[in-house]
Parts: sequence; C-alpha cells; structure tokens
Amino acid sequence: MSQALIFGITGYAGSALARCLVGCGWSVRGIGRSESAASDLEHLGVEVEIADVGEPEELTDLGRPGDHVFYLVGSISGHPDWTERVGLDGVINAEAALAAAGIASFVLVQTMAAYGEGSDETITEATPPQPNSQLGRISLFAEQHLREALNKRGFPARFVRAGTIYGPGRRTVEALRNKRLRMLGGGENSSSRIHVDDLATVLAAVAERGRSGEVYLAVDDQPVSMAAYFDHLAERADVPAPGSTPKWLARAMIAGFGLTSKLTKGHAPLGHNLYALVTGNYECSNARIRDELGVELAYPTYVEGVESLLADEGKDD
Ligand SMILES: NC(=O)c1ccc[n+]([C@@H]2O[C@H](COP(=O)([O-])OP(=O)(O)OC[C@H]3O[C@@H](n4cnc5c(N)ncnc54)[C@H](OP(=O)(O)O)[C@@H]3O)[C@@H](O)[C@H]2O)c1
Repeated sequence: MSQALIFGITGYAGSALARCLVGCGWSVRGIGRSESAASDLEHLGVEVEIADVGEPEELTDLGRPGDHVFYLVGSISGHPDWTERVGLDGVINAEAALAAAGIASFVLVQTMAAYGEGSDETITEATPPQPNSQLGRISLFAEQHLREALNKRGFPARFVRAGTIYGPGRRTVEALRNKRLRMLGGGENSSSRIHVDDLATVLAAVAERGRSGEVYLAVDDQPVSMAAYFDHLAERADVPAPGSTPKWLARAMIAGFGLTSKLTKGHAPLGHNLYALVTGNYECSNARIRDELGVELAYPTYVEGVESLLADEGKDD
C-alpha cells in the first residue's frame, strides 16, 4: 500500500489531497495545526498530528521508510515573517527531520511567485525564475536548500509550482456576493489555474512517477485573464461581477498599512506578496505533467471547474 505524509493536511489543498489519496487506497498521515479540521479528517481514517513546522523539536520521528511526503504549508497572503517561517524555516526543519527516514519522495508545493511579474510568452519548467516579491525569493531559497540536500544526501525532492488553486469550499462566490473580492486594475493579466482535485492528481503523479530535482507546473489547459474568470464565475453564480481598485491605490495602501484588509474586508489580506501574484502574467504550459507523467485532468479548463463551485455552493458558501 502506498503511504503519504502530508504537511498542511488540514489546509484547503492538503485536505483535498488526503481525501484523494485515501480514495485511491493510500495510507495517509499528516501534520496540521487546527484540531477541528484534524478531527474531520480523522473520520476518513487519516492520522493527524498537531505540530508547528517552525519548531524542529515538534517534528521528530515523523517519517517512515517509503513515505511520499507532500509539503503544503504556506499561504499567499500572510505576514512576511510568517511567510518565511513556514515557507523556508519549515522546509529546512522538515528536511532535517526526514533526512534519515528513507522516504520515497518529497514534493514541495509552491506558487508562481518564482516567475515574478511573469511573461508575455508561455511559461514552462525551463523558464528562468525572476522573483519580484519576498514570497518568490523565499520559495527559491527553500528550493535551493532541498537541491543541496538532494546533491549531498540523495534527499528525493521534487518541486511543484501550482497555478491559482480553486474549487468548492474556497468561498469565492460568497466573497463576490458580499463584494469582498476586487480586481486590481482591469484584471487583464493572465492567470493559470488548477482545480483542487486536479492538483491532488498531479501531486500523486509527481510523487510516484516524477523525478527528483525536477520542477513541474501544476496548471490546467487554458490560462484565462483574471477579469474573464471572475466575470464568468459571477455570471454562472448569478452574483455581481467584482469591482476594481486601481493598482496605484492598492500599492499605496500596502505601502501605508503593510498588510491591508481594507480593500477586501478581510477576504485575503492584501500585502506585497499577494499583489505581485495577482497582477503577474502567468500563461503556463502543462505539457510536462501531461506528457511525462500522463496526468489526465478532470477539469481541463475553468469552464468545467466553475460548475463544480456552483454545485457545491449551498454547502460551503
Ligand atoms: N492559494 C493558492 O491559490 C495557491 C496557489 C499555488 C500554491 N499555493 C501554495 O499551496 C500550499 C497550500 O495552499 P492552501 O491554499 O491549501 O493553504 P491553506 O489552506 O492556508 O493551508 C495551509 C496549511 O498549512 C498549515 N500550517 C500553517 N502554518 C503552519 C505551521 N506553522 N505549522 C504546521 N502547519 C501549518 C495549516 O494548518 P491549519 O489550517 O490547521 O492552521 C494548513 O494545514 C501553500 O504553500 C500555498 O502557498 C497556493
């Protein structure tokens, strides 16, 4: 039986991955912080340990030989100190805790922040990183640490850069309905997206069939502009399309307040890291996950994916 250890198992993507792997017959364990989310997962037969990745002494005796390890701790909208603690210190602590355990793979899940403002050309795994935010720089430091561990100790690290993760339970429709979600500028920049269930499929494929030291872009087939995505979602959910805040005003508010919730009424506090991500132009290719790993997506474009949010809306929104 395949076995998984998921850091961030109580989070949005981590819990979806746990459900997917349990459904495929894996034995699943994980680390999270929230007791209530942990007890929901324990009903699935998943073992959850409450630990802080920033505290090395809380991570002892975690790994078992043959574990596929997934690191999904982090966030795109937290305070910079927290971003570094979970995005870099936590990765270093996890690697130290697992170095001698004989794990099968370690899949680090990160964002497109490594590509900075993005590009007018299609981004592939061969595109050189060019971060323009703290989140992007932290991601590359974490990657570099794991590459050194791979070279020196054979630590089986693989790197997944995921597009915007969306799906049921994100409360996006609710945020639109309550006018807590706003475009920055006209939203004409492209985003590459991935449905949370498809991300789980990609992560399992990277663990089982991916190669250590390689980067994999987890995105669907069709990049879409921010405005086109939210207009489509609003139309299908019959809620107002998002309003828009000029970029200069957003930048001024971030400079003035640091992390600001004033624009989003607390939806996802806007700091420089999130600003850089949501204004970047990321048209990414998924050729590698399709051709090398044989991944089949359940939601190849946002058009199919949006329907899953509507089907779920009454339950989670
Ligand atoms: N959101 C996106 O669109 C997007 C896109 C690309 C990549 N990513 C990356 O994908 C990963 C997962 O994203 P997500 O949306 O699933 O995030 P999420 O829902 O915020 O989940 C984060 C997880 O990390 C755990 N965690 C936070 N701080 C911790 C700590 N100090 N020690 C141990 N566990 C801690 C959380 O535990 P509790 O919930 O129990 O507190 C939760 O399980 C993140 O690294 C994120 O940066 C996100």
